[in-house]
Amino acid sequence: MTKDRTFRKVSIFTGSPEKTFKLGQILGGILENGDNLALFGTLGSGKTLLTQGIARGLNVPENVYVTSPTFTLVNEYPGRVPVYHVDLYRISEEDELVELGLDELMGEHGIAIIEWAEKLPETYLRNCNIKIELIIQGAEKRKISIESTDKEIGSILSDFSDLSNVGPVKS
Ligand SMILES: Nc1ncnc2c1ncn2[C@@H]1O[C@H](COP(=O)(O)OP(=O)(O)O)[C@@H](O)[C@H]1O
Ligand SMILES: [Mg+2]
Repeated sequence: MTKDRTFRKVSIFTGSPEKTFKLGQILGGILENGDNLALFGTLGSGKTLLTQGIARGLNVPENVYVTSPTFTLVNEYPGRVPVYHVDLYRISEEDELVELGLDELMGEHGIAIIEWAEKLPETYLRNCNIKIELIIQGAEKRKISIESTDKEIGSILSDFSDLSNVGPVKS
C-alpha cells in the first residue's frame, strides 16, 4: 500500500522559550518509532530548544544533556525509543552524511531529529515525515509551522495553537 504523502500544516506561535519547550514535549509525546523530523530555521530560532522538549516528551531522562551535536554531528539519547539528534550546520559535503550513516539513523528504528534541514539533500528530506520551520518574530516570539503526513499530529497540535492556555505537561 502506498503511504499517504499529503502534508498537513499547523502553525503555532510561542511567546517564550518555555512554551517552545512545552510544544516540543507535546509533540514528543505523540511521535512514533520511525518518525523523522526535519527542522528548518536560522540560528537562535529555537531548533535545539524544541528538540530538548521533544526529547523530554519521548521520555529521555532529565539528567541526559540534550544539546546541538555540532562537532560530533549526531547525539543519541535513550528515550522510549532511541533518539538521534543531528545538526548539519557544519556539514560541507554530502559524503559526510553517508559516513554519518544518516540513512540508518533515519530508518525504522528510533526517531531522527535533524537541525539545519536546509542542508539536507532531497533524497534524505523525502524520508522526513515531519517538517518543522521556526521563524523568529520577536525577542521571545517564534512562529513554529509543523507539516506532517500524519493526520493525527495535525489535529492534536491544532488544539495547542494557543499555548498560553496549556498547563504544565507531565513528563
Ligand atoms: N519563543 C521562543 N522559542 C524558542 N527560543 C526562544 C524563544 N524566545 C527566546 N528564545 C531564545 O532563543 C534561543 C534559541 O536557541 P536554540 O534553541 O539553540 O536555537 P537554534 O538551535 O535554532 O540555533 C534561546 O536562547 C532561547 O532562550
Ligand atoms: Mg541548534
